[in-house]
Amino acid sequence: MRWSPVAASAIADHFDISYELEHQISGTGKEAALASIRNVLDKGIFTMVRQREMKGLGHAILTGEALIGHEPFGVLLSDDLCLNEGPGVLAQMAELYKQFRCSIVAIQEVPADETHKYGVIGGKSLKEGIYSVEEMVEKPQPQDAPSNLAIIGRYILTPDIFDILRNTGPGANGEIQITDALQTQARNGCVIAYKFKGRRFDCGSVPGFVEATNFVYENYYQNS
Ligand code: G1P
Repeated sequence: MRWSPVAASAIADHFDISYELEHQISGTGKEAALASIRNVLDKGIFTMVRQREMKGLGHAILTGEALIGHEPFGVLLSDDLCLNEGPGVLAQMAELYKQFRCSIVAIQEVPADETHKYGVIGGKSLKEGIYSVEEMVEKPQPQDAPSNLAIIGRYILTPDIFDILRNTGPGANGEIQITDALQTQARNGCVIAYKFKGRRFDCGSVPGFVEATNFVYENYYQNS
């Protein structure tokens, strides 16, 4: 992922207090929206790091090592919007982490002719919707795909992934792929794939973005 300087500072500003904006909307009908924004800000401390070169998702994650240290952590790819009633996808996965204590990827079934857009897993079913990963391929053609179970942009990763990433060479598209590092982790230990509860929208495509916008409007805003 690569941001222009303007986009990157817009993201940093988004997670900061905007005194001018707050001043301008105070006393107007939009003042009620302030509480929900402050609520997000009060929930944590936001720090950011820039990936200076476009070297793939694995490299982007490795760039974040200095902020993470030696703890399990979550990765959310913001172009995958996941919605559901009840706990969000990452919360579902955090619950599963307590049981397995290893890296977890969220998956969903995709049509065979779409496997080339995703990382695809092959594995052994442990119970309904939970697989022990044996194989992972980044963006395979249908004939090379180990299944139709595609990784979507939610991961819980254990920190040993950083050393693996440091030793992972470029893969698909000449980029350092988290899928390849996870394949190494699966071979040496354990990686779980989890068919999450919820619906996912591919906001990285125009139709997916429009579909997500309409869905959010119809289900969350229409009667408010
Ligand atoms: C990335 C990952 C891929 C995953 C996908 C989910 O690909 O490399 O394994 O299936 O996100 O959206 P990208 O969409 O960045 O090409």
